[in-house]
Amino acid sequence: MNLSTINPKVRNRLRVLLAEIERHNRLYYQQNTPEISDFEYDCLQAELQAIYKNFPELAQLTGPGSDLTNGPFAKVAHLSPMLSLANTYSLEELQAFDKNLTAKIGPSHTFILEPKVDGMAINLWYESGVLVRALTRGDGKKGEDVTANIKTIGSIPQQLSGDVPERLEVRGEVYITLEDFTAINKEQEQLGQEPFANARNLASGSVKLLDVDEVRRRRLSFVAHGIGYFKGSLDTQEQCRLWLKDKGFPVFPSIDKANSIQEAWAFIQNFWEKAKSLPYGTDGVVLKLNDRTFQQELGATAKFPRWAIAYKFEPEAAETRLRTVTFQLGRTGIVTPVAELEPVLLAGSRVSRATLHNFDEIKRKDIRIGDWVVLQKAGEVIPIITAVNKAKRPVDAQPIVPPTCCPSCKGPLSHVEDQVALRCTSLDCPEQIRLKLVHFASKEAMDIRGMGPKVMNVLFQKGWLRHMDDLFKLREHRAAWIQLEGFGPVIVDQLLAAIERAKHRPLWRFINALGIPEIGVESAKNLAQHFKSCAAIFEASLEELQAVPLVGLCASQSIQLFYANTANRAILQALMDQGLDLTIDAAAGPWLGKIFVLTGTLAQYSRDQAKQKIEALGGKVSSTVSAKTFAVIMGKNPGDKLTQSQKLNIPIWDENMFLEQLNAYAEN
Ligand code: IVH
Repeated sequence: MNLSTINPKVRNRLRVLLAEIERHNRLYYQQNTPEISDFEYDCLQAELQAIYKNFPELAQLTGPGSDLTNGPFAKVAHLSPMLSLANTYSLEELQAFDKNLTAKIGPSHTFILEPKVDGMAINLWYESGVLVRALTRGDGKKGEDVTANIKTIGSIPQQLSGDVPERLEVRGEVYITLEDFTAINKEQEQLGQEPFANARNLASGSVKLLDVDEVRRRRLSFVAHGIGYFKGSLDTQEQCRLWLKDKGFPVFPSIDKANSIQEAWAFIQNFWEKAKSLPYGTDGVVLKLNDRTFQQELGATAKFPRWAIAYKFEPEAAETRLRTVTFQLGRTGIVTPVAELEPVLLAGSRVSRATLHNFDEIKRKDIRIGDWVVLQKAGEVIPIITAVNKAKRPVDAQPIVPPTCCPSCKGPLSHVEDQVALRCTSLDCPEQIRLKLVHFASKEAMDIRGMGPKVMNVLFQKGWLRHMDDLFKLREHRAAWIQLEGFGPVIVDQLLAAIERAKHRPLWRFINALGIPEIGVESAKNLAQHFKSCAAIFEASLEELQAVPLVGLCASQSIQLFYANTANRAILQALMDQGLDLTIDAAAGPWLGKIFVLTGTLAQYSRDQAKQKIEALGGKVSSTVSAKTFAVIMGKNPGDKLTQSQKLNIPIWDENMFLEQLNAYAEN
């Protein structure tokens, strides 16, 4: 037997339990920072033992000594080994690589040149054209089964059409585009959470998350760059690319070739300039022999193929002095240390500040005030301090001391859940209130035209804005307001009218505007559509909250924690007293909040058309079956989603049933 035949609910719970227990063991035994009581730990263990008692075969598969004890994902052997690439940073080494090739296959050979995508290698395993597994590289022989997470990537075909081999492995890179990375970090900021350091780590971290909804939020992308196990004839790397393209895989948009190592070198010289316009991060160029017969002839060492090499660019770095460290307070009270640097040019821009993330990071890198630090651009966007030049450390370099009080209100700071970040929990902290108010009025929240940070700061300084409901009381200050520089009656009346209009916003805007940690635009929209009123959201149980798409356990707890706080309840009441009349999105259809999964081929509609029909009625289409799936729509040759839905008891609609349902709503 194998793990995949066990009821998915039990399997998932087991994985979560094993991961949790492992994490708490680490916190307790290695880091000496337990997060839960002995009693809570014993409860986790008892639950694990109960599962093992009911499913004794699972104990063999996942108990001590088995593969799963090393992590939450099952380890599965690749059909053919997944090799890595030899790296070089110099022309001499490239020439040596070519010399070795020439000695074995002769002087005439062509290279394919591709960007080295800064992401994570993934192996896609197809059986009779159906995606059955997605594995990480692991140790090259066995990888971790991250299928559910990889299925969130819409561009990966889950079913191949036409002539396909019975078994096939497609190799490629999972990455996050630089644009998505910036957007995700913006969302993080809105959620009051720390930004991610770089796109590569975010991509590889996301692939291994246990919460599929969260993985979806990370907007992973994929590019196929090769084939693993394959019985068939594809003579060149070029043909592989065309075949993959024909089967619907995202591939590199164009192909570059070089007939000698000199030509390849010329390409590499020009590549850095080109790389700046690529949508993903890249740290070099991959050279591959085009001819697959040559590839086979050359074979591989234990780790690398002898027919390919990666030329990597030294990352752009700069050294400068750390003048001091300041502490920045975020909207949710988290205090982040920020490095104030002597300005320096880095990858074309002037840098004088860099985030230090948290105090663990400072300790790990042993950064001190006065140090010469090495700065690098992470994921081409945010500068980070990668190291300290200890040789240049001045004798009077000062350790960075974590603050004991809030930089704004001077109130006490305490550690938050993950034991690393420091948070000011005061409800009267003026800077937090200012940031919360700016967020409340912002475009993605209550969208009050003209009430941007600058205007809000003036009103804040005047002392007219202390709480969110004060925004709706600004009319009382009209006489004084029109006297202020840069305002006047016309502008002030426009602003007052905009504030008045904001009383009739959709409920989701209000939920987002409250600035509840872990709740952003998308989760606020789903909450509003699901519960239809503010009261219903705050009165919902943890289970009811978690039933909402994109709302996981953390977000649900955060909502309850927010409402448990009497001061927050007072603010909510005060806002309601201002006569807010929140609306529910009128575009909502009868399938609002319902999630559908499509499998197999429909006769009447293409996949896109079916998706459009579902979305027109307010529904959503997901690529993975979960307990939250409303129905699975089954066409011809359904994939393994069908078996998954049967196991989870999800209703299965055949094409006729789907059409009947669509027609029923069309008539209404
Ligand atoms: S081909 C046997 N092509 O780089 C050759 N790899 O450092 C397998 N990578 O594990 C790799 N871009 O994850 C290939 N265009 C590209 C690539 C690429 C990024 C990654 C891949 C590999 C790692 C080796």
